Amino acid sequence: MGNLNSTAREEDGPPALSKRGAEAAKPAISYLPEMLAAMGDLYDPETNPEGYVVAAAAENKLLYKDILEPKLCEAHRKLSEVAEHELFSPYYGDMRGMPNVRKAVAGLMEELVVKKKKLDPDCLCLTPGVTSAVNMMAFVLGNPGDGVLIPAPYYPAFDNDLHTRTGLVPTPARMEKIKIDQPEDVPGLPVQWRITEASLEKGLAEAKAKGLNVRIFLLTNPENPLGFSHTVEELETVIKFVRKHKMHLISDEIYAGDCHSAREGDATHVSVLDLTEGDDIHVLYGMSKDFGLSGHRMGFIYTENKDAVKSISSLSGFQSVSGPAQAVLYELVSDLDFVRSYVAESNRRLRDACDKVQGHLTSLGIEFYRPTASLFFMIDLRKYLSAPTWDAEMELFQTFFKNKFIITPGKACHFKEPGYYRVCFAAASEEAMALLCNRLSKVLASVQVSNAAASDE
Ligand SMILES: Cc1ncc(COP(=O)(O)O)c(C=O)c1O
Repeated sequence: MGNLNSTAREEDGPPALSKRGAEAAKPAISYLPEMLAAMGDLYDPETNPEGYVVAAAAENKLLYKDILEPKLCEAHRKLSEVAEHELFSPYYGDMRGMPNVRKAVAGLMEELVVKKKKLDPDCLCLTPGVTSAVNMMAFVLGNPGDGVLIPAPYYPAFDNDLHTRTGLVPTPARMEKIKIDQPEDVPGLPVQWRITEASLEKGLAEAKAKGLNVRIFLLTNPENPLGFSHTVEELETVIKFVRKHKMHLISDEIYAGDCHSAREGDATHVSVLDLTEGDDIHVLYGMSKDFGLSGHRMGFIYTENKDAVKSISSLSGFQSVSGPAQAVLYELVSDLDFVRSYVAESNRRLRDACDKVQGHLTSLGIEFYRPTASLFFMIDLRKYLSAPTWDAEMELFQTFFKNKFIITPGKACHFKEPGYYRVCFAAASEEAMALLCNRLSKVLASVQVSNAAASDE
């Protein structure tokens, strides 16, 4: 018998991956290698005081220990005590989610996401995370090479979610920045970002000039990376626009319950499904943000498009949520009293954490766009770049990394101009976020302030 380790193709090397397999080997987001390295060496006041503070992942870690963990332990205890078939089937079944779980999820979404409409559990499909839900919808609604119009700035991973496996092409429609009169006591830059009809038509014209056939519009509401809820007027503009141009509207409402601003006049969450319905509207939600359970990998697609439901059902076999995971989810979300008190407490803690980080940044003279919802906001560090370039933005990011903290560079969020960074204020404890601000102030003190940032984004 010959040597099994040698191949007939020794000179050529092993057979290559497919083109799409090779393309998928790229990091899903540009700064992922640094983020994973930092996550493996996290700051801990006792065991790792020199570790990293990671404020680049949109996570809410403020309620896990005292509120979520006991609730999850209770769910797991129940699972271990009751014969499993009473809570979930140990056999094959409906891969898009067990009927009782989909019913409970419909109830959860009526509580936090879609407040004016009764949701039909038969229109719901479970996926392992909203990442998977976005990829699923891209597969079901678009053809390879089709454009997906997205209000920009937008969430870094959408490029990967929409393109990998499905070959769709994300293309931005830049929101307008509108100067506003802002009361003295309100922190942040006096600017509102808005989706307008003109911004959408311009984005579409640019997509067409690139040769793209745009059939899908992807909205994130509340918005990521700026952290605010879109107004009813903006949502109506989007709905009219998608219908005029015969597009599907995917509305990612994963931050629906994170409307933490208590200030009068700040928009709260309204779902597109509160304003309209139809086969062209698809709403996504999940457990990673409002419930801080990103490791549980749990996402939901709500669509009344029966053909889409059929496709998703067939495809669910490739990416379904396991029965035990659904059983734990059921225990959590079917207890609506728990959900209500959890979300109220979550928003109280988010408000507090956000105020504290903003306080540190203000004392360092750093400007930012004030958030009213979600888990992050954008800060303006343009004057600290060595030059007004994307390379300089990445260079400063690398300096932050060397100094043991991570915030998201604006390029990844599709900002138009270098020098903005996204800070996730709930991704670490109050003490860790104070340390991050301290490390940031040391880095900024050591770099030369340039005048390069005179222009506005
Ligand atoms: C807008 C948006 N959609 C989807 C996701 C991914 O969610 P999941 O963890 O459910 O895959 C994120 C995570 O940051 C996000 O910000």
